[in-house]
Amino acid sequence: MTDYKIRSRSGDQGMTHPEAMTGRKLITVASGKGGVGKTWFAITLSHALAQAGRKVLLFDGDLGLANIDIQLGLNPSHDLSEAVLGTRKFEDVVTRSPDTGFDIVAGRSGSARMANVRHDQISLLRHGLLAAGQVYDHVVLDLGAGVDRSIRSLAANTGPTMVVTTEEPTAITDAYALIKLLHADRPGGDFRVVVNMCKGRAEGERTFSKLSTACENFLKVKPRLAGIILRDPNVGDTIRRQTPMLKRHPLSQASNDVARIARDLIAAN
Ligand SMILES: Nc1ncnc2c1ncn2[C@@H]1O[C@H](COP(=O)(O)OP(=O)(O)OP(=O)(O)O)[C@@H](O)[C@H]1O
Ligand SMILES: [Mg+2]
Repeated sequence: MTDYKIRSRSGDQGMTHPEAMTGRKLITVASGKGGVGKTWFAITLSHALAQAGRKVLLFDGDLGLANIDIQLGLNPSHDLSEAVLGTRKFEDVVTRSPDTGFDIVAGRSGSARMANVRHDQISLLRHGLLAAGQVYDHVVLDLGAGVDRSIRSLAANTGPTMVVTTEEPTAITDAYALIKLLHADRPGGDFRVVVNMCKGRAEGERTFSKLSTACENFLKVKPRLAGIILRDPNVGDTIRRQTPMLKRHPLSQASNDVARIARDLIAAN
């Protein structure tokens, strides 16, 4: 058991007993295939939740190739590598994103140590995430691509796992592989599918249907559809300009799609 204390923006409300955290607080964003929009979605979802008045921590769990700070144009003074190496406490590497109103634990890109974290260090991070759930309304975890054990072991068995895919067969196959392995690690997960970069709703629904049919037939797992996000040229624009989507293009189609997913999460809470 950990006794981490995580400082929230409303003050130091550190608590012990992370096991007492309610499951829905931790929202894991994962995909299998790379480049399907996980990080952009995790940022925009966190922003939408914060705009709805929720206290949110966004955690960069892409340990070797972290880039939440890059997408947001931030230059954090501290990052997760210090917590992993034990030179700083977990709560002391939290950065506030002034443009969005949520807090961030930034990662460290290109660090060999972060790319090869040990099992005990992953356990430390998991404890930090669970402890954060006692202080924040939502803790959003952006994972790296792939299905390696290091990625899966950071994913928690509490709270929804948002599996991001596109309509590409390779993305669907990798999303299925991820669900299969996560289910094998810890049965009973709450899998919710986000179909991103869709040309239209019908394409999103077809994609979800293919993935959920495979999961039901072969794994006896029934994922839910979290939402369909349309392909939107404004997404690339926000990333190039390192500005949050909901700030730069709040009325854009993809912004609306993510805001809807955030509303559904809040309604279910
Ligand atoms: N709805 C969308 N419409 C158009 N482009 C999108 C959309 N979502 C994401 N993208 C584009 O997809 C690219 C990859 O996004 P992002 O870095 O968030 O993916 P990722 O899954 O986190 O990648 P990685 O696996 O490398 O971590 C970006 O260039 C972004 O502009
Ligand atoms: Mg990413």
